[in-house]
Amino acid sequence: MARLIVANWKMNLDPAAAIKLVTKLEPKIDPSERVEVVILPPSIDLYPLDETIDKTKLKLGAQNIHYLDEGPFTGEVSAAMLKGVIDYALIGHSERRAMGEDDKLIAKKVAAAYRNGITSIVCIGENLDQREHKLSSKVVVDQLTADLALVTAEEVKDIVIAYEPLWAISHGDGKGRHATPDDIRAVLRAIRSTVEDLYGEAGGVGMRLLYGGSVNADDCMAYLGMDEIDGLLVGGDSLNYEDFASIIDASDRENTD
Ligand code: 13P
Repeated sequence: MARLIVANWKMNLDPAAAIKLVTKLEPKIDPSERVEVVILPPSIDLYPLDETIDKTKLKLGAQNIHYLDEGPFTGEVSAAMLKGVIDYALIGHSERRAMGEDDKLIAKKVAAAYRNGITSIVCIGENLDQREHKLSSKVVVDQLTADLALVTAEEVKDIVIAYEPLWAISHGDGKGRHATPDDIRAVLRAIRSTVEDLYGEAGGVGMRLLYGGSVNADDCMAYLGMDEIDGLLVGGDSLNYEDFASIIDASDRENTD
């Protein structure tokens, strides 16, 4: 299976800077590599990028969607409006949960994505306090179960889960702690086995699982060597085209499937 490498640019790069970055990144990507590369830019960049990118090398996704297709929701953008431009939507990122998104809303956004033919990348992860109290797996399994509440066995094969422990995310300030493969293995296994419990073995095998949190060009190999994951969700390091290209390249080299 091709590895899935996703760039979450967060609130960085206006359209001109976005085009500049992909123009430098694309020549470094070999379309024959067994890697699917997805860029999640700010929503204002989606249309100019859609007209610019080489679609044999890059796909686009949104960092957020609304759970309804239209209506009186000032400042929001729906999956129905982005359909045709994006293949993926990030849902429930911890930086949005911190602004008040809860699992009920996230479950409705996952349903909206599916309804509009868009693949959800659902983010789950525990904070440092929960980790120190040995609650990581419980917190993550509870989030996952609630976030998938509206997903059927047929639909789960099209879902991507991203495990992003909050204590490992750098938030652009370089303060994320580095998570080693041993720090995250048990939680990743708990995620896959929860999906198997909920949807049977086929669901667990089909669902793609990513790791995210301070992944960079130097340490990505450690994660890519893990059997538990199918790809990476990269924040800060995806803003540097050379580093992000190295991560893409490493993903192909480490792919033994
Ligand atoms: P960093 O890679 O900057 O830690 O961000 C991770 C993340 O939040 C990606 O969604």
